[in-house]
Amino acid sequence: MSEIPTLEGTPQREHWGSKFGVILAVAGSAVGLGNFLRFPGQAVNNGGGAFMIPYIVSFLILGIPICWCEWTMGRLGGRFGQNNGPGVMFALWRRGPAKGIGALTLFIPVVVYMYYVFVEAWCLQYAVHFFRGGFAELFGTALAEASGETTDVEAIVGASGAYFGESVGMANNGDVFRKGNMVWMVLICFAVNFVIIYKGVTRGIETFCKVAMPMLLVCACIILVRVLTLDGISSGLGFMWNPKWESLADPQVWLAAAGQIFFTLSVGFGLILCYSSYLRKDDDVVLTSLSASSTNEFCEVVLGGMIVVPTAFLFLGAENAAGTTFGLGFVTLPAIMHFMPGGSFFGGMWFGLLFLAAVTSSLSMLQPAIAFLEDGFGLKRTASVLLLGVITAIGAIVPMYFTHGLVGLDHTDFWCNFMMIIAATAQVLLFGWVIGAERGCREANRGADVKLPSFMPFVLRYVTPTFLLVVLGAWAFTNAPGYIDGMRPALRGVEAARGVYEPVIADHFSEENLGEEQIEARSEAILGADADPNQLPEWLAPHAEEAGKARTAAEADANAARWVFIGLVLFYGLLLGLTDIACRNRIGRNIAAAEANGVCLEA
Ligand code: ALA
Repeated sequence: MSEIPTLEGTPQREHWGSKFGVILAVAGSAVGLGNFLRFPGQAVNNGGGAFMIPYIVSFLILGIPICWCEWTMGRLGGRFGQNNGPGVMFALWRRGPAKGIGALTLFIPVVVYMYYVFVEAWCLQYAVHFFRGGFAELFGTALAEASGETTDVEAIVGASGAYFGESVGMANNGDVFRKGNMVWMVLICFAVNFVIIYKGVTRGIETFCKVAMPMLLVCACIILVRVLTLDGISSGLGFMWNPKWESLADPQVWLAAAGQIFFTLSVGFGLILCYSSYLRKDDDVVLTSLSASSTNEFCEVVLGGMIVVPTAFLFLGAENAAGTTFGLGFVTLPAIMHFMPGGSFFGGMWFGLLFLAAVTSSLSMLQPAIAFLEDGFGLKRTASVLLLGVITAIGAIVPMYFTHGLVGLDHTDFWCNFMMIIAATAQVLLFGWVIGAERGCREANRGADVKLPSFMPFVLRYVTPTFLLVVLGAWAFTNAPGYIDGMRPALRGVEAARGVYEPVIADHFSEENLGEEQIEARSEAILGADADPNQLPEWLAPHAEEAGKARTAAEADANAARWVFIGLVLFYGLLLGLTDIACRNRIGRNIAAAEANGVCLEA
C-alpha cells in the first residue's frame, strides 16, 4: 500500500482480499439479468443460431478488448488514490472531456440501478410465488376455467400474462403503488443491496459474491440437467445452435448482438473501472479480466442460452416463443415450468437464481457512486450510503410509476444503452490515442499472468474504435429515431387512434378485395393527417370513443417518455457539475499528492 498516498481524512483504501474473490466479484457484476433474461430474449428474437455469429464476433472485437482497457485504466487510476470513474479518468487525462466521460461512468450505473432493482424485485416476487405454490394454483384454476376452444398452453400462458401485467402494473401508471406487494419487494431489494454495500468492498461485495456465485452456478446446473433430460429437447437445441450464415447480412442482428455484449459484460458502465481500481499495482489484469468475462459467457451462452431458448422452442415453437424479453422471461417461462415435473420447485429455484444474479450485478452499480462520494467529497460510509439510497430511491420511482406498457423502464434502458456505447467509445479512444495503445498495453502487461497478444495495440487503436463508431452510428440512425418519435405525444396519439380505426376500415372494404397498400391509401384518405374524430364517416364514428382512449393513453406514454429523457439530461448535468467540483478540489488535490509521491502513468 505504500504507493497509495491519502489526504488527511480520506478513508484507508480497500483492496480485494484474493484473486479468486475479485474474479467472482467482477463475474458477479457481469452475470445478471442480462445473461438469463436479456440474452435468451435477444437470441430468440434474432433467429437463434443467427444471433450467435455476430454475438461471438462482438465478444472478440468489442467485449474482450474494452474490458482489458477498463481493467488497466481502473488499476492505474487506483494508484492515484481514485476508486471512482471521474477520478480515474481525470488522473489519466487532465482535460475537460475527461470529466464528461467520468460523469458518464457515474451516470450509467446509477441510472441502470434505478430500473434494474425493479426487475430484481420481480424475480424475488416470482421466486416467492413459485415456492408458495401460487403459480400451481393460478395455472390449475386457469386450466379448470378454460373453454373448449382454448388449448392448455394458451390458457396457462394467458393466466401467466395476466399475472405479470398485474404484478408490474402494466394496465395503468401508478398501479404498482396502489395494489400488490411489489413495493415491498423493491424495498427488500434496496435493503439487501445497501446493507452489503455498507459493509464495503471486501467484507460486503467480495464475501457476498463468494457465496452467491457458486450457489447460482449450482442452481443453474441443476435446472440445466432437468431441461436437457426433457423429451425432444434436441429440436430446441438445434434452433439455438445451428448457425444461419445469412444473418451476417442483417445490420439489426449485429446491433442487437453488440448491445447484448455491452450489457452482459457491463462494459462502458464504469463498473469495471471502479472494481479494478481496488487492485494492487502488480495484480494481474489480463488473465483476471479474461476469467471474469469467460465465466460470464459460460453463464450466458451455456446456462442462459441452453435453459430458456430450447425449452421455449420445445413447448411453444419458434414463432410463439418469440416476443419481448420480459414476455419470454416472466410470461412464457413460468408457464412452461408448469408443464415440467417438479415445476414449482424448479420455477422457484430459477427465479431465486435470477434474484441472486441480479443482486451481484446491482451491487456493482452502486459502488462507483459510493466511491465517488467518498473520494470526491470525503463523505463517510454511512453518509454516502444514505445519500445514494435517497437518490436511487427517488430515481426508482420513475420506472415504478410509469408502468403503462413499461414505458419508463423501456426509455430509461434505451438511453442508458446508448450512453454505454458512447462511454465505451470514449474510453477506448482515450486508451488507444491519449494514453497510447503501446503504453497502455505495457501497463496492462505489468504483473500479468499471461501477456496481451502483440497485435493488441493495433486492435485497440484501430479495429475496436472503428467497430464501435460503426455501432454507435448505426444505433443512432436505426434505433434512436423510434425512441425520439416515442416522445412526441401528438404523433403517438394519432398512431394509436389509427391502430383502432384501420382494422375497421379494412373490414369495411373487405368485399373489394383490396391489397395492403390500397387499404393504407384508403385509410389515409378517410382519416386524414390527424384522425380527427369529428371528420369520420358515419360507419366509423362508433369507434371514436375507443380510439380516443387509445390516443389519450399513447399521449400519456409519450409525455412520460419525454419526462424520463428530461430527467436523465438533468441528472447527467448534475453529475457533471459534481464531477467538476470534485476534480477541482479533493480529487485534483489527491491526484497531485499522488504525483508528488512519485506516482505517474509510467511509474
Ligand atoms: N451485466 C449485468 C447483467 O448482465 C448488468 O445483468
